[in-house]
Amino acid sequence: MEEDARAIGFGFLVSQVTPHKAVLTLGLCLLLGQAAASLVIPRLAGQFTDGILAGAAIGNILLAWLGVVALQSGLTFASSYLLGRAGVEIIARLSERLYDHLQAIPLAWFHERKRGEVLALLTNDVQRISTFVTGTLVRLLPQLVTFFGALLLIYFVDAGIAFVMLIGLPLFFLLLKLATRSLRPLTDQLMRSQAGQVAIAEQNLGLLPVIKSFVREDLESERFRNTTRRVLNLQKRYLLIVQLLSPVTRIVLTAALVVVLWLASGKLIAGDMETGDLVSLLLYGSLMSVPLASLTNIYGEVQSVRGAGTRLLEVFAEQPEPYEGGKPELPPVRGEIRIEGLHFRYPRRAEVLTDLHLRVDAGETVAFTGPNGAGKSTLAHLLLRLIDPQRGRIYIDETDIAEVDLLSLRRQIGLVDQNTLLFNGTVAENIAYGRFEASPQEVEGAAKAAHAHDFIERLPRGYDTLIGDQGIKLSGGQKQRVALARALLKDPAILILDEATSMFDPEGERGFIRECRDLLHSRTVLMITHRPESLKLAQRIFRLDGGKLREVEAHAQPTALRTT
Ligand SMILES: Nc1ncnc2c1ncn2[C@@H]1O[C@H](COP(=O)(O)OP(=O)(O)O)[C@@H](O)[C@H]1O
Ligand SMILES: [Mg+2]
Repeated sequence: MEEDARAIGFGFLVSQVTPHKAVLTLGLCLLLGQAAASLVIPRLAGQFTDGILAGAAIGNILLAWLGVVALQSGLTFASSYLLGRAGVEIIARLSERLYDHLQAIPLAWFHERKRGEVLALLTNDVQRISTFVTGTLVRLLPQLVTFFGALLLIYFVDAGIAFVMLIGLPLFFLLLKLATRSLRPLTDQLMRSQAGQVAIAEQNLGLLPVIKSFVREDLESERFRNTTRRVLNLQKRYLLIVQLLSPVTRIVLTAALVVVLWLASGKLIAGDMETGDLVSLLLYGSLMSVPLASLTNIYGEVQSVRGAGTRLLEVFAEQPEPYEGGKPELPPVRGEIRIEGLHFRYPRRAEVLTDLHLRVDAGETVAFTGPNGAGKSTLAHLLLRLIDPQRGRIYIDETDIAEVDLLSLRRQIGLVDQNTLLFNGTVAENIAYGRFEASPQEVEGAAKAAHAHDFIERLPRGYDTLIGDQGIKLSGGQKQRVALARALLKDPAILILDEATSMFDPEGERGFIRECRDLLHSRTVLMITHRPESLKLAQRIFRLDGGKLREVEAHAQPTALRTT
């Protein structure tokens, strides 16, 4: 996987940066100008010293100094602003692309991961890369220019000393590499722990009713504290290394400068060097030490950002669902369903469906029953291709659903999932989710059919009432009714109801069933249910058990079913 990630890495980076080519180039040019300007100052200081010692006029030199600093400041502002702006734009695009990609990855990928960890990618990792690009990377280039420019100018002042410095340089970086060797694994661990922290918080805030009713506040606080401690300890170790780098670098650099000055003063005494040259040299030397010191910090940051980058690239290397496989659209269907020899297993699990066969006529209403965990919901998800079978085929109107455009398939199937999943928005927005263009009358019509209209009318703001995260402000049965209305408004040729009325009160269920006789008439309906009332709606009833479907007698069924 890491290799995959690296393979797309370079091209990916380039594709992120290309749209900002012009701004980046301009910013870089200004930056180079700025760095060049900074190199003039030590030269001026040298001239200033020589001027004073020779008793010459120095007013112009001082004015020039001021001018250069003003120019340098202007260039610094313009370049930092331009590059910083390009940086944040690149990051914004990256977040968008990451989100789009995550949304397109098959659901199975998410089954294997904690949601908090995925969230951490979008927050921590993108943030880390963002800070690196806008803060560090932008700083890096001018500092490299300053450094090598200063070295070049030292060469012109005194070639011998420049060579001594050039030889010292690789030694310095070797030292740096050794010192920061442990940073990469450390930052990886740190990011993982931080992700774990987000994961726990994310999960627990959704589970507060459970935590409170089981009086497990202490346990969960402890759990969160443990991850925080782990993060804290890693952060301390990280700080220790990173904060040590800077003073150690400073000592090494000062030692180098001492050697240079010692060499230079020898030359001055021997009469091989002017005093002004010595001053220039001194200032060039300290000019070089700033970029070197921050290079060490940058080096540390690179280690940590590499981890974040690898994780992001791994996600991008993940194959999205085949949205644009160039497959033909599924034409509007009548709703005949044929399943042949279907086998399905979840990763590392026993087979759920084994050699399953089924035939449902267009417009038929069939019911599925069977014990918990028999694979009924799995079958529903297979029809929508939320998951794909290992073997076997599903045909809708004689068309193999594996051979058609995925979106055109999903548009024609309505699913009311067993887990009622609602958005934090208004009731009306939730119902209209499959058809935003629906009129308020149509929304109301769907709500009436789902027996949701009456309770919605009684909400404080009717259809404009906000229902909270996951519809927390509604009762279980009310949520189901909203979800049902949402699917009915989509008006699909095939409707799958996965225990969609399991929380309805008997009254509501009977009402819904009465309504359904007309409503379900025109489409194919697959009903997963244990409720006798609902079973009466079905023309045929199947029992799923042991991975296979068996048709059962419709009339004998209701009493027999209750025992499962
Ligand atoms: N994402 C998953 N990963 C692994 N196993 C799963 C997953 N989802 C469901 N299962 C397992 O597959 C079996 C069938 O589940 P499901 O189709 O939800 O049953 P039901 O008939 O109750 O709807 C169960 O044993 C369940 O534990
Ligand atoms: Mg189920």
